[in-house]
Amino acid sequence: MTSKLWWKDGVIYQIYPRSFADSNGDGVGDLAGITAKLDYLAELGVDAIWLSPIYPSPNVDFGYDVSDYVDIHTQFGTLEDFDRLTAEAHRRGIRVVLDMVMNHTSDQHPWFQQSRSSRDNPYRDYYFWRDPKPGNKPPNNWLSVFGEEGWVPDPATGQMYFHMFYREQPDVNWRNPAVRREMLDVFRFWLERGVDGFRLDVFNSFFKDADLKDNPTTLFGIRAFERQRHIHDIDQPEMMPLLQELRSLLDSYPERYAVGETFLASAEKAAQYCGPDKLHGTFNFELLQSRWSPRAFIRAIQRWEQALAADTWPTWVLNNHDNRRSATRYGGGEKDDRLKIAAALMLTQRGTPFLYYGEEIGMRDIHVPYREIQDRLGKKYWPIVPGRDGCRAPMQWDASPNAGFSPAGVQTWLPPHPNYGMRNVEAQRADPNSLWHFYRKLIALRRESAALREGMFIPLTFDTYFILGYLRQTSDETMLVALNFSGRRKRLVLGGKLASVNWEMLLSSKREQMSPLRGGLVALEPYEALILRQVH
Ligand code: NOJ
Repeated sequence: MTSKLWWKDGVIYQIYPRSFADSNGDGVGDLAGITAKLDYLAELGVDAIWLSPIYPSPNVDFGYDVSDYVDIHTQFGTLEDFDRLTAEAHRRGIRVVLDMVMNHTSDQHPWFQQSRSSRDNPYRDYYFWRDPKPGNKPPNNWLSVFGEEGWVPDPATGQMYFHMFYREQPDVNWRNPAVRREMLDVFRFWLERGVDGFRLDVFNSFFKDADLKDNPTTLFGIRAFERQRHIHDIDQPEMMPLLQELRSLLDSYPERYAVGETFLASAEKAAQYCGPDKLHGTFNFELLQSRWSPRAFIRAIQRWEQALAADTWPTWVLNNHDNRRSATRYGGGEKDDRLKIAAALMLTQRGTPFLYYGEEIGMRDIHVPYREIQDRLGKKYWPIVPGRDGCRAPMQWDASPNAGFSPAGVQTWLPPHPNYGMRNVEAQRADPNSLWHFYRKLIALRRESAALREGMFIPLTFDTYFILGYLRQTSDETMLVALNFSGRRKRLVLGGKLASVNWEMLLSSKREQMSPLRGGLVALEPYEALILRQVH
């Protein structure tokens, strides 16, 4: 028996706090709401929750514009509510991971308020201020990924400041030792409060080129931002010593964790930033971006496996608060067959799986009419790109008004999906064949099986449209995962020694029992996810 490490062997569940559970009836989720749902999360079997930002914020980017790093947004509650949530989570063996948004602050943060007040304010150098070029032109060609100019003129001081996201999110200058000290103190503050880990928002954008050199441009890409090679505004070498410093801080507490959201990441790039003296994990979104094809999924898995060094640990993500839900991307209508395949695929990989609230019941994206759009990006690119409101709708707890998220009669900040009457936690808990039960069984199976958690990944077969089969293996356990991506009956043919192995069925999305395999033939039902274990 090896001892388990929560962030390595466990499953992490992302909560978008505005949308999880509203305890005070103001239409917005809150910390007390999350606390009240901890038993639910324990029942599902998750080991940790990651909370999207809960700090004071003007909410231009719904919390990803922080105006105070060491307090709680009044909409979510108080520091006491947070302490209660942490204590109650820990009592149930659930760890708490906070989102740290430190590439930028809100323009309402006192540092920026000071910084913009005059050229010689002591906080001036906390941000990127530069003189415009002649003709009031920006100091360099950097742009905002949100499709705005990167540099904003400030008439009061005659200079411009840089922002990678909204103009209300000025980028901070991590080369300034005072910024670095203040930010590390923020980590200390939360570590002392008992927080178990951090998710670092776009961390690889913290450092910019010291001389603010122009990015080279290319002809390829639809938007101007994509037509730049981002070699001077992200991924600077100074990031590595900072990650080492952060890691030593985390390691001075027991079992603390950090996972980084690698901005503009490929698997190879994300891999560079994790290791024993860097981050514990980084996100690489190739799985999330994969189309519905065994070949595409296996490529994403293999690229990630190849990119990571031997002493690093993968992360797996199918959903988050920035992307259309996998249920919308893969699920046909209200059917959940494909979602069970995707769940089985993700939860049988070597690495840490991240679930996003509502994924376990197959929540679909909501459609929000123009007048009611909350995410500013959704308004800007309407109707071409839908924005991010779709995946942020209230959690569907039951069939009562407002899906059990807010009390009846309350106007919720985003509307619940109209399907909540039939698609909700209560209904799926009552149905043994539901997606929710399937997730729960997978999580439990993973907890019991060292091969599923950390065994070697050995691909057996894959094609473009139909089948994906692989083994997960340790020295004393072999698991076989067979996934039929199609609506047709398919066969997986086991050759060589595998053909004569005895297998027992541990889980199937389609049947209760399986007759013994003959001649190494695994017959799969349409859209079946099947997990077998070798019997010795
Ligand atoms: C990445 C976050 O996931 C996204 O929601 C946010 O808008 C940007 N970073 C800016 O903080």
